[in-house]
Amino acid sequence: MTQAPLRDPALTLVARATPPAPKPSAERKEPIIELSHAGVTFETRKGEALTALEDLNLTIYREEIVSLVGPSGCGKSTALRILAGLQPLSSGDFWIGGGKTRQGFSEVAIVFQRPTLLPWRNVLDNVLYPARVLRGRATKEDKARALELLELVGLAEMAKRMPHELSGGMQQRASIARSLILDPKILLMDEPFGALDALTREDLQLDLLEIHARTKKTILLVTHSISEAVLLSDRVAVMSARPGRLQDLIEVDIPKPRGPESGALPAFHEYSRRIRDDIFGPRKRREVQA
Ligand SMILES: Nc1ncnc2c1ncn2[C@@H]1O[C@H](COP(=O)(O)OP(=O)(O)OP(=O)(O)O)[C@@H](O)[C@H]1O
Ligand SMILES: [Mg+2]
Repeated sequence: MTQAPLRDPALTLVARATPPAPKPSAERKEPIIELSHAGVTFETRKGEALTALEDLNLTIYREEIVSLVGPSGCGKSTALRILAGLQPLSSGDFWIGGGKTRQGFSEVAIVFQRPTLLPWRNVLDNVLYPARVLRGRATKEDKARALELLELVGLAEMAKRMPHELSGGMQQRASIARSLILDPKILLMDEPFGALDALTREDLQLDLLEIHARTKKTILLVTHSISEAVLLSDRVAVMSARPGRLQDLIEVDIPKPRGPESGALPAFHEYSRRIRDDIFGPRKRREVQA
């Protein structure tokens, strides 16, 4: 993997309200992730077969944000683990990085629900940790990049603090910065905001949109929040209950840049309703007695 430049213009922080206009969708039609008939079957402790994923087909294009939503246990985390190289397939195939290859494997970073920072290292050292593991030590360039990333996620002042001195939201920001230190092309995020309070969550959602506008990472995000999926995504992949398959794939045609005001658009409610109906089925109208 090539060394990240000392000053990455993509990381230059500008006002949240003015991200550059997104590329037209036709320009981002270069596949970077493909799952083809992907299936995963586990063996339970009792020796029974448990099919977590079955015949999952999904193509994700460069620079997209795609959300995976679906009922608990439908295989969302399993799908992410496949792409991170942590879970072998039982059937089907997948490719990552473009073409029918897995050359992009080393360019994947993953962010979990919990920040998983090393408690005995300060924030800067935590962000640098993947670089240390990869190269044996952090270079000057790594340090400069780590400081830029901390600025990007709003933690410039916290570089020397220890993790326990940070709020949950700050810790998650630090772990997002850490995920970007090796300049991955693909960010896999498994309910990254699931453990945060509602206000912090909203803040981080907007931060993620800004990070995406600056860095152009391809992001595959697992979330249980329908509104989060609609706000953040170019497309939302809805999975069926286990064994997970693709049930619906929705292109979210809501103008960018998006922000809190996007939630007031009629289209936002339409997309949310479609996803909810996909997951729960159309709710029966309740008769209300006067
Ligand atoms: N290592 C494992 N061994 C056995 N079964 C597993 C293993 N990992 C996951 N499973 C099962 O596979 C299914 C899918 O799990 P997965 O964690 O992918 O679901 P999920 O969609 O991420 O759920 P949630 O929304 O609750 O996080 C579940 O039924 C789970 O119990
Ligand atoms: Mg999960």
